[in-house]
Amino acid sequence: MKNIIKYIFFVIIVVSYNSNSFGAENSAKLLNPGWSFKGFTGTFDRASLQRGYQVYTEVCAACHSMKYLSYRNLSEPGGPEFSEEQVKIIASQFEVIDGPNSDGDMYTRAARLSDNFVGPYANEQAARALNGGAYPPDMSVLVKARKGGADYIYSVLLGYGETPSGVTLDDGVYYNTYISGNKIKMANPLTEGLVQYSDGTSATEEQMAKDVVTFLAWAAEPHLEARHKIGFRAILYLIVITILVYFSMKKIWSRIETEV
Ligand code: HEC
Repeated sequence: MKNIIKYIFFVIIVVSYNSNSFGAENSAKLLNPGWSFKGFTGTFDRASLQRGYQVYTEVCAACHSMKYLSYRNLSEPGGPEFSEEQVKIIASQFEVIDGPNSDGDMYTRAARLSDNFVGPYANEQAARALNGGAYPPDMSVLVKARKGGADYIYSVLLGYGETPSGVTLDDGVYYNTYISGNKIKMANPLTEGLVQYSDGTSATEEQMAKDVVTFLAWAAEPHLEARHKIGFRAILYLIVITILVYFSMKKIWSRIETEV
């Protein structure tokens, strides 16, 4: 019996061990505020997701697109879970180009639930021209695309500080502890109190960074909660099966043991 308990613990530890925290090689150890969605029973903090969407749309969306997300996703289970009414209002504030109409002309209309997030620039060239040649990457799956994931983006957002003496920076280039080479062509996007949270949470830089990264983590992996639930059930199932097999084995072999 002792062995089987050890085995179950072993399985739980192996499964819940999360290897996402490998740091970037050439820069400082990444910051980690403690994510609710990590670990094998992790879920997204709903309120944080909603605040994170607010930070994205009011701050980051000025430069970063999220073209693989549609407005409808904001009301789906496992995400920020805004009501459909709220999302309709959100979508209607954006304009998309549609058409051609029966006269063959393109026209603009308010976005609908089925439209993808409207980006800030017409194309990559326009984005580069307005950002000193640098391209603000699409953030739909950025958390998955970068080594260090959520920790990395969180760290970059909080990694601005004094430029150390001896480092010279060109115009439009900023010092950041966590980006490789320590130089980034994005000014610190966050300052305390930049957004006004409707739930009364105080908008410190750390809070905004945590919320927006939570939102980005969901965007990159919208089915994380469902996956965790299935994983959890599968483990439970395996544990029950293991116990059953163990006892049936005992029972079968007990006869033979007594005969010896
Ligand atoms: C004024 C425009 C602007 C705003 C606003 C802005 N960014 Fe950026 N961002 C950029 C540019 C340009 C780059 C590319 C920098 C480079 O390549 O050096 C970038 C790069 C980044 C990177 C580094 C990605 C990588 O390649 O590793 C992250 C992370 C990031 N932005 C997150 C954010 C978040 C989160 C927000 C909102 C809180 C935000 N940005 C707001 C312009 C902006």
